[in-house]
Amino acid sequence: MSVVTIVGAGVIGLSWARLFGSAGWQVRISDPRPDLTDVADQHLAGLPVTLSADLAAAADGADFVQEAGPERIEIKEQMFATLAAHTRDDVVLASSSSSLLPSAIAKGNPAAERIVIGHPFNPPELMPLVEVVPGPHTSASTVDRAIDVYKELHKLPIRLRKEIPGFVGNRLQKVFNDQCTYLVQQGVIDVADLDDLVRASLGLRWATIGPFQSGTLGGGPQGMRHLVAHIGSQMTFEIGAPDPARMDDVLDAVESTYGTGESAYQELADLRDNRTRAALQPLGWPQPPDVRGT
Ligand SMILES: NC(=O)c1ccc[n+]([C@@H]2O[C@H](COP(=O)([O-])OP(=O)(O)OC[C@H]3O[C@@H](n4cnc5c(N)ncnc54)[C@H](O)[C@@H]3O)[C@@H](O)[C@H]2O)c1
Repeated sequence: MSVVTIVGAGVIGLSWARLFGSAGWQVRISDPRPDLTDVADQHLAGLPVTLSADLAAAADGADFVQEAGPERIEIKEQMFATLAAHTRDDVVLASSSSSLLPSAIAKGNPAAERIVIGHPFNPPELMPLVEVVPGPHTSASTVDRAIDVYKELHKLPIRLRKEIPGFVGNRLQKVFNDQCTYLVQQGVIDVADLDDLVRASLGLRWATIGPFQSGTLGGGPQGMRHLVAHIGSQMTFEIGAPDPARMDDVLDAVESTYGTGESAYQELADLRDNRTRAALQPLGWPQPPDVRGT
């Protein structure tokens, strides 16, 4: 049985653990959080998981490492130094980082050729994509091995040709989310209506075809070239930017719309997961493992 060491038992680490565990991997999960046993009992029951607060011990003998610790470069550097020292030299060290450059995580690390980004979308057990981002020192065999492992988990690994902060998914998300915040701050629309508007239009469209495919169709039989010349040429307005000093106004509105705390989180996570599960197969994605958790 292959062994994966997952670093961090937070939102992403627990989801990776369910995914690897249900795919037949022996999972070791390392996190210094004092409630690690309770968290595992609650979220990983019935899976082949062992727990350790000691990262070096958890890494020893691993066949693959998926790091999902805090998004802080100094913490990642430290974790990857420990991982480099306590893994075989054929073991891929993949980071789930949302935006940190692999070259920054690997700086000064003797195992830089084994370090790669394997960035999932939340929750990794349901969302098909894993962005695979090599740094300048990442070896081709590391990238190939990471892609093989993610394919084995029935994910869609997409390899970026070079590193860039935020990679592709989160650069797109940043532009989009900034505009959502700006529109709410400007009083154009409220939080719930904006969410409904997106679900009823761009969300549904982009679940079926991508933006360039959509542009091709939007121009009719003459394709995207016609769309750009026709409608695109009139979209010359400035889009504005959100005011960081007024971010609390938007956060207050989001919290009063959707609530906060454990039960609100659970309810919303269940809604998302049930809808995502129902949509995956009809859209051509493999059915994910039926391991429930949040
Ligand atoms: N939350 C998301 O939507 C999302 C999506 C994709 C990728 N990511 C990335 O995944 C990573 C984890 O994010 P998250 O949202 O799960 O964070 P989180 O805060 O929920 O979990 C992080 C966990 O790391 C643990 N930790 C702290 N120090 C540690 C150490 N030295 N060794 C091991 N574990 C340690 C914490 O106790 C915590 O349980 C980040 O790099 C983030 O950018 C997050």
